[in-house]
Amino acid sequence: MQFDDIIDRSSTYAFKWEKYKQRDILPMWVADSEFASPEPIIQALSQRVEHGLFGYTLPAHYAPANQAVKRWLSVKHDWDIKEEWIVWTPGVVPAFNVACKAYCSPGDTVLIQTPNYPPLRAAPALHNLNRVEIDTLEVEGRWTLNYAQLESAAKDPKCKLLILCNPMNPVGSVLNEQEMQKVAQICAQHDVKLCSDEIHCDLILDVTKKHLPAGNIAGLEQNSITLMAASKTFNIAGLGTSFAIIPNKALRTKFQAGMQGMVPWANIMGLVATEVAFTQCDEWHQQLLDYLRENLAFIQQQVDTIDGLRLLNVEATFLAWIDASGLGVDDPQQYFESKGVGPSPGIDFGDKNFVRINFACPKSMLEEAFKRFKA
Ligand SMILES: Cc1ncc(COP(=O)(O)O)c(C=O)c1O
Repeated sequence: MQFDDIIDRSSTYAFKWEKYKQRDILPMWVADSEFASPEPIIQALSQRVEHGLFGYTLPAHYAPANQAVKRWLSVKHDWDIKEEWIVWTPGVVPAFNVACKAYCSPGDTVLIQTPNYPPLRAAPALHNLNRVEIDTLEVEGRWTLNYAQLESAAKDPKCKLLILCNPMNPVGSVLNEQEMQKVAQICAQHDVKLCSDEIHCDLILDVTKKHLPAGNIAGLEQNSITLMAASKTFNIAGLGTSFAIIPNKALRTKFQAGMQGMVPWANIMGLVATEVAFTQCDEWHQQLLDYLRENLAFIQQQVDTIDGLRLLNVEATFLAWIDASGLGVDDPQQYFESKGVGPSPGIDFGDKNFVRINFACPKSMLEEAFKRFKA
């Protein structure tokens, strides 16, 4: 089983492994995986390298990559897009920052759910915008948004943009149809644009759930920017390539204007990898999901045996948002590290009582992590 392989990343300057380089702490933080990319991606990249010329490639000219995105969204997400709706970006982080710049003026307000991915929380302030936080609530065993709070915050005429993270990082929920319709209704009623970060959308682990892209929801098609990438799923995040789907022409033009002079074209290697990920790796993707489901079941079972830890159903992502408040320690992150396990600190996402464990790793690494924690 390829996902069981332990691959030494210590000589590659991997961000995740550099942090604890001199310490005996298992890195389970940054959201990339410990899995090698699928063989067809590696081969296509090698072939591109063999060619030997790495000059400019305008992503819009690279038809196979655009067709691959169209194919993937249709087959995996029942969303039929036009290729002209695609705007390639060198990462999702620059893309939601472009949205802040393109659709807001200094002093406006952006709504962001909490807890959330740190660069998302940071984005409004980088553009002199106010951030209003929308709480995440525990309802019937799963995390969801506080829709009443969302509605009341959206009423403020200064509020121009909602940046959603769906599937939700770090809490792992994926919004259902009713929830997406509620978001659509709130945005339409109060003239708020939706920028939806869906980078984790191909990692649905709960087989009873389905990802619903924002731009494919009635009422949102003309009012949304949907951000996606093959990066998390196929472990190609270092290739700096993602895309926005913007069906509305005026919104798309504004977004492209916001990129000008600041945001480079997506990387040629990332385009090659995305093309292959979205056309030749369906089976690998299915195997990945099966493997992650097993890892998640293992974590859930382990957490249930440890007094002081708690984990709600993870519907999507390879991230477990673990409530450590029951441990009765001041600093859960430090406590985990003292046990030789290095999660992401909950404080960075907005809640110091939690830690986030990345479980996209060989099962043996997870077993080792829990063995250390329980020792
Ligand atoms: C919700 C979310 N958005 C964006 C990113 C990073 O996107 P990129 O590397 O494409 O800028 C991450 C990475 O962890 C993420 O979890």
